[in-house]
Amino acid sequence: MPAKGGAVLVTSFRPPRPGVPGAGDGVRAGTPDVLVIGGGIIGLVVAWRAAERGLRVTVVDPEPGGGAARVAAGMLAAVTELHHGEEELLELNLASSARWPAFADELADAAGVGDGSALGYRRCGTLAVALDADDRAELRDLHALQTRCGLQARWLTGRECRRLEPMLAPGVRGGLRVEDDHQVDPRPVVDALLIAAERAGVVFVRREARGVWSRSGRVGGAVLADGARLAAGRVVVAAGSRGGRLEGLPEEARPPVRPVKGQVLRLRMPTGIPFLSRTVRAVVRGSHVYLVPRESGELVIGATSEEQGWDTTVTAGGVYELLRDAHELVPGLTELPLVEAVAGLRPGTPDNAPLLGGTGTPGLLIAGGHHRNGVLLAPITGDLMAEYLTTGTMPERGRPFSPERFAPVGAGVPGGPGASRVPHPIEEVL
Ligand code: GLY
Repeated sequence: MPAKGGAVLVTSFRPPRPGVPGAGDGVRAGTPDVLVIGGGIIGLVVAWRAAERGLRVTVVDPEPGGGAARVAAGMLAAVTELHHGEEELLELNLASSARWPAFADELADAAGVGDGSALGYRRCGTLAVALDADDRAELRDLHALQTRCGLQARWLTGRECRRLEPMLAPGVRGGLRVEDDHQVDPRPVVDALLIAAERAGVVFVRREARGVWSRSGRVGGAVLADGARLAAGRVVVAAGSRGGRLEGLPEEARPPVRPVKGQVLRLRMPTGIPFLSRTVRAVVRGSHVYLVPRESGELVIGATSEEQGWDTTVTAGGVYELLRDAHELVPGLTELPLVEAVAGLRPGTPDNAPLLGGTGTPGLLIAGGHHRNGVLLAPITGDLMAEYLTTGTMPERGRPFSPERFAPVGAGVPGGPGASRVPHPIEEVL
């Protein structure tokens, strides 16, 4: 592809691999089969898994390995983060949660860092507690929903909660013990994904992508901030909360993601003195707060949930509220060193579920919109997207999460509303 605004060499030529569906299909030799826009946890897992299956993959990101996962606490909390009306998402969350132990071992091995414990994977369980009568009623309601969905959670009295976690406040009035919600440390996970992807042959272009370009209605690659173009067989938008802002996306295929800010604190627990042994969470004054203790001694407190655009400022109010609510659960934590305060942006979608797979636009795929579940859903996202990229078929489990569920009715139908699209800002006319 002749580049307008300067050419960028993204990969050296490697011959298409025989027997790999999609490898080299319709793509000039030397261009990647797949170009992933975004090198956060989702972009990296898609790139790694696709490369492992023989596809030539390039990731475009000025700082691969960054993004929301660097901020996230890493709870694998399919059961305690269950919400009414999200039963379909629950199935995906549970499937990915079940994948985590083997995924962590496989990823650690591929990156040469040992086994899953090097990535902070811990089967620690979670305790969701209530501080007052309203919290208790909310937790009872969650318990009823969990039971209806066939999930395991055991109701404990306040005293039983404190027997499990002696640092809990005397005011804790009861709680739910969930043995199947665990944790992982997202930072070593992302670091391992970078290494594993590189080892699998993924090429990194450490530049900003400002959009995609198209030819004859097919997305053909990415446009970089300086106007240079990269070409690829297919483009996967995995740009987190920025995904919907990329230029050149047809409106009917634009990911409907919005940024949901989360502020998170990191404290250091004392060595040799048991502090917390499992994730503890609660709803305090209507806000969710969770405390995730790591074996490394780190204690993560999260997270605010704010809809204020793309702002990632750590605010005094955010830090205050987190500490105030966490202190109500575990008063002793105010003695701990505060190591870090940081904010990130969750990519929220209208139904809180991810966008996985092809769009109505040829050449354009999305892996995004994971909202509160980016870390939890990383293994299954990699599996589903790699399968779709190599076979052209999305496995049954991934189909409810097609980005096309948000396409306007009639998009792609001649004469339908989505068919009369406005010209793309970046469209090559030949
Ligand atoms: N899943 C935790 C959060 O999004 O804060």
